[in-house]
Amino acid sequence: MRNFIRRIILQTKLESLFAKEAWHFWRFTRRYNASNHTDKDIEKMQYTLSRETHTIEKGMSMRNPRKGFGQEKVSNLINRLKKYNQLYGMTDSSFLYYPLSTIKSYIEYTNKTGVSIPDIEESYAELLNTTDFELVNVESGIVRESKEHIQSLCNKDFESLLFSRHSLRYFSKRPVSKDILDKALILAQRTPSACNRQGWKAHVFMGNRSVELIRWQGGSRGFEDEIRCAILVTANLKAFLSFEVHQAYVDGGLYAMNLINALHSLGLGTIPLSTAFQYQKLAILKSFGIPENEVPILIIGVGHLLDEFNVAVSTRKDIVLTTIWH
Ligand SMILES: Cc1cc2nc3c(=O)[nH]c(=O)nc-3n(C[C@H](O)[C@H](O)[C@H](O)COP(=O)(O)O)c2cc1C
Repeated sequence: MRNFIRRIILQTKLESLFAKEAWHFWRFTRRYNASNHTDKDIEKMQYTLSRETHTIEKGMSMRNPRKGFGQEKVSNLINRLKKYNQLYGMTDSSFLYYPLSTIKSYIEYTNKTGVSIPDIEESYAELLNTTDFELVNVESGIVRESKEHIQSLCNKDFESLLFSRHSLRYFSKRPVSKDILDKALILAQRTPSACNRQGWKAHVFMGNRSVELIRWQGGSRGFEDEIRCAILVTANLKAFLSFEVHQAYVDGGLYAMNLINALHSLGLGTIPLSTAFQYQKLAILKSFGIPENEVPILIIGVGHLLDEFNVAVSTRKDIVLTTIWH
């Protein structure tokens, strides 16, 4: 009887703890999620603008971008940037450099393909006149890369490995062998994890099954058929205790990053693809053989490099913007 009561008390404590965690998560999400009151908050506005900017360079980094693609997106982006400039230009105008530079690359790129976009050029010029952008030089858009160049750097030293990795959006048709994937998986297994639990899983999909998974993911519109090998990294919720309910995402994320770098070090191309979706969409993962107790962390699209290809520059912020010394 005593044991029974003790078990009931313990269970009630656990249930209340889980409910509290969910409640706090709800509280922070409604307050800080970027979809909520976006433009009332400079950080939310900046992050969403960076996201929209990246969509433009990503479009240019595909195998065969549709001629004249992205005009509506770019117009909308320019209008939002104008709004940003009015609201926050006095606080942080340097934020505008990366979007402005990307739009400049987009205009040059689109004109080169023989498509004229005078309305966008005019709107861009209006925005430009209100900034000091012309005094700076920010790399943006796409760069041409080659297999020879990447493979000379990817396994040279750590710095070269990091600087030579890019997200690739098209690959050679050569199938990726199990042997090379096994080698990468062995390297990624060196990932540290909380109390060495190694709660991650790597689900490997090949051929049409990979394309189906990529279609489900949805963030690869325009290049789904390119990805004939996809690794879905998950983390097992059963590995974690009541005081570490978010740990699965940390350990899984560390593993996924190591796997990306391991694949790159072996000369393969990769692209990380988000799986941070709403639960209705995640429920469909059951049909791919993913049990409910595994939370998806990331899909890694994998392929062999072509001799030459384009990659998005995806310029990085200065470390002063992301480092806080205490
Ligand atoms: C969690 C995560 C999710 C991503 N999802 C997508 C995606 O859905 N579609 C896509 O084209 N790229 C996606 N990417 C790739 C990013 O756009 C890319 O990593 C970023 O622009 C930096 O560029 P780099 O990887 O070439 O350094 C994702 C990257 C990460 C880390």
